[in-house]
Amino acid sequence: MKARARVAVFASGGGSNLGAMLDHGERLGSSRAADVALVSSSRESAGALVRARERKIPTAVLAGADAGAMNEMLDEHRIDLVVLAGYLSLVPDAVTARFAGRMLNVHPALLPAFGGQGLYGQRVHRAVLDAGAKLSGATVHFVDAHYDRGPIIAQWPVPVRDDDTPESLAARVLRIEHMLLPRAVEAVAGGTVTIGADGRVRGVCTPPSTAAYTLSNHDDASLASEIDALFT
Ligand code: GRF
Repeated sequence: MKARARVAVFASGGGSNLGAMLDHGERLGSSRAADVALVSSSRESAGALVRARERKIPTAVLAGADAGAMNEMLDEHRIDLVVLAGYLSLVPDAVTARFAGRMLNVHPALLPAFGGQGLYGQRVHRAVLDAGAKLSGATVHFVDAHYDRGPIIAQWPVPVRDDDTPESLAARVLRIEHMLLPRAVEAVAGGTVTIGADGRVRGVCTPPSTAAYTLSNHDDASLASEIDALFT
């Protein structure tokens, strides 16, 4: 039995992605490949810390970007994978480099579009709407030295509706993040998704039924199975 990967989740906000990861792990039970072993935030007030404490998961508040202190914390908790789930502080390059291929981030858009310095939170969704994009989505990627530019692990699409506001789009994308992030972490922890020496990611986790929700607001449901076939 392969030992489960010990995961540290870094979060600055409410921690709904952390909650989705914990719920997914409970659903998988003993077959899960990853265990959340630490939740860290740069903000003592982060809701993610409250969620962790409710489930008796060790927490740490680490203000500032001291690479030594961060690496020491990760060593102390024997961390194998780091997941950034709405972490708004800087991860020092020394930590990112040490966790190359073992640090994941979730972004609420289809990178490389609508990503990069300054594009986070509602700003992402405002940019998607201002561009008139008809599809947005969620991306999970490996973190490298370039902001939101690391090798992509998985992406799931989300339709943009004509009457969307940044808030309504954010809410729809967040629901897909909650489905995608736990599965992407499990895929990396379980080895079904790997990153090669060439930096390319192999193995994918596609949505169970792409068409079922991208076409859900049209009447061409008959296309759903044809589009799904493209993903199987
Ligand atoms: C998510 O929208 C994520 O895409 C972004 O920050 C938000 C985190 O939300 N990076 P939560 O704290 O997990 O609820």
